[in-house]
Amino acid sequence: MYFIANWKMFGDLTTLNSLDKVIKFSKNIKKNKIKLIYCPPSTLIRPLSKRLKKTKIEVGAQNCHYSYDTGAYTGQVNTRMLKSVGAKYVIIGHSENRQLGDNDKLINLKIRSATRAGLKVIFCIGETLEQKKNKKTNYVLANQIKNGLKSIKNKSNIIVAYEPVWSIGSGLIPKSDELIKSIAYIKSKLGNKFIKILYGGSVNSNNVDKLKIITGIDGFLIGGASQNSNKFIDIIKKTIN
Ligand code: PGA
Repeated sequence: MYFIANWKMFGDLTTLNSLDKVIKFSKNIKKNKIKLIYCPPSTLIRPLSKRLKKTKIEVGAQNCHYSYDTGAYTGQVNTRMLKSVGAKYVIIGHSENRQLGDNDKLINLKIRSATRAGLKVIFCIGETLEQKKNKKTNYVLANQIKNGLKSIKNKSNIIVAYEPVWSIGSGLIPKSDELIKSIAYIKSKLGNKFIKILYGGSVNSNNVDKLKIITGIDGFLIGGASQNSNKFIDIIKKTIN
């Protein structure tokens, strides 16, 4: 099972001290039972990867620029730069960045750049509330997958995170039968049964019991609750026990 912490725009150097609890906890977990990945803001990738060097916890970035090469892109960071400071993963296509202008084409370029740089991609997809109400969920998911993964032949470095936009940060999660259907649909569209599929959106220690039993879910992308080490550990414990 994957547990990916998406810290969003949260955390500074002092916040990293709170991870000592998670590091200690991770040492007592059986090898290979779980994969723990922290995606902090870019400013913390280097210090965090240094701190996690002797642990099984890995580090990822939350976004990247589409250009594999350096260039005149003020404020941007490319995939090779992220890799050079210790990132092994990168979240691409998160709805918070889709809202800021990341379209499928840009997302596809970012994914290409990331795989070329040797990063694993956490590719986020999901429908908005309006799309859900209009029964467009499958249509949206199919398009996001088709366009986002266009010309990506080797999908071994892709992890898909299904994050309904309306469930992110809202406390709402999909009904179990709806989630089962969406996950199965995503799997069918990926055309590769080995690609891992995660669920993300308001995952917490109270709802994870319901979520972990959904067929086809290989883990969780956790935002708000991952910013607190105790809550994050609770989610992991409830999932694996
Ligand atoms: P949330 O965020 O857990 O706070 O809903 C999930 C995400 O945005 O990845």
